[in-house]
Amino acid sequence: MVVNWKSQFPIFDQYPNLAYLDNAATTQRPNTVIGTISKFHQKENSNIHRGVYALSTQSSKMYEETRKEVGHFLGTDQHSIAFTSGTTESVNIVARSFVSPQIEKGDNIVISILEHHSNFVPWQQLSIEKGAELRIVPIDKNGTLKLDVLKNYIDFKTKMVSIGHISNSLGTINDIREVVTIAHSKNAPVMIDAAQSAAFYDLDHQKIGYDFLAFSGHKLFGPFGVGVLFVAEPYQDQISPYNFGGGMIRNVEESNTEFAKYPFSLEAGTPNISGIMGLREALNFIQDIDRSIARNHVGDLTKYCCEILSEINGVEVIGNPASSIISFNVTGIHPHDVSSFLDKDDIALRAGMHCTQPLMKFLQVPSTVRASFSLYNSLEEVDRLKASIEDLKKFWK
Ligand code: ALA
Repeated sequence: MVVNWKSQFPIFDQYPNLAYLDNAATTQRPNTVIGTISKFHQKENSNIHRGVYALSTQSSKMYEETRKEVGHFLGTDQHSIAFTSGTTESVNIVARSFVSPQIEKGDNIVISILEHHSNFVPWQQLSIEKGAELRIVPIDKNGTLKLDVLKNYIDFKTKMVSIGHISNSLGTINDIREVVTIAHSKNAPVMIDAAQSAAFYDLDHQKIGYDFLAFSGHKLFGPFGVGVLFVAEPYQDQISPYNFGGGMIRNVEESNTEFAKYPFSLEAGTPNISGIMGLREALNFIQDIDRSIARNHVGDLTKYCCEILSEINGVEVIGNPASSIISFNVTGIHPHDVSSFLDKDDIALRAGMHCTQPLMKFLQVPSTVRASFSLYNSLEEVDRLKASIEDLKKFWK
């Protein structure tokens, strides 16, 4: 079945020739999401959980229904879902509000060398502060996480194992079910950073069994500035508030405050209500598409891109990309120069270290060019990428 996904994204009306290959940084927004946000502002705008008039009651209802839908999306209930500003905030909350109070000198946190800074720096800083050890699981030459090392690194002093599902730089898909099994066999809690996988991959909590999970709205066709944190039931009472203010309290006295329970304890102040409405519409959008078709589509583009890039002399694909993301280098030409050259052919992709400086150092590459695909990309755009790189090579001689 051929679906014209591109026609649902108005950015391409504005830029019909744009080959947008930077979906790992952010996806484009479909009409439905843009329309929902706009409709909220035009016809429904009001604060939540504060007013007893019709507009406010309706906003509160839609907000809480979204929580339920996110729960459904993850195969769980609404009580496990907190709204945040994105993956970065979600990881920081778990580091600061859950791990920090219980970690001490001699304990450890396990992450991997594949992590983007959002799932690296919060753990690194906490480890430094507490005198704990940050154990960084390496990868093999294909970019695959060394699960045997992960197994050895986790012990009874491990306070958190936090692993990304899909590497934003190399496109490696980690076996998160196995990560959870290994960690749980040693009684360590697991956080999954699903920033790059939430759009097209099954994250059913019942099947995978993670304890914490984070993703961002803007990487699954939703708005910027909204994200999700899932906390499994046994840990919900152990996650303390990190922002204080309205909305997260049960009772306030002059000298003391009793806090609301999770997830409300984490949602101080007026949240990004219109963003949450947009997130809801984004979830509707991705649940309306056949996600297996979407996965196959981006997988086919990735495979084809790998094949044709390896036909170009002097182009090296890094690792063994399996999802929708490819990193590569063109010998003798800096990734920023590659990206600027491609830009003149209306090809937008990311060049640099992709917020994964430790990974680049581990791979001993200063930076890479990264192409990342989504629904609206095509084989023809991959051919254009190849042609443009070939032109660049002639130009650069
Ligand atoms: N994490 C985003 C990226 O990989 C910003 O580009």
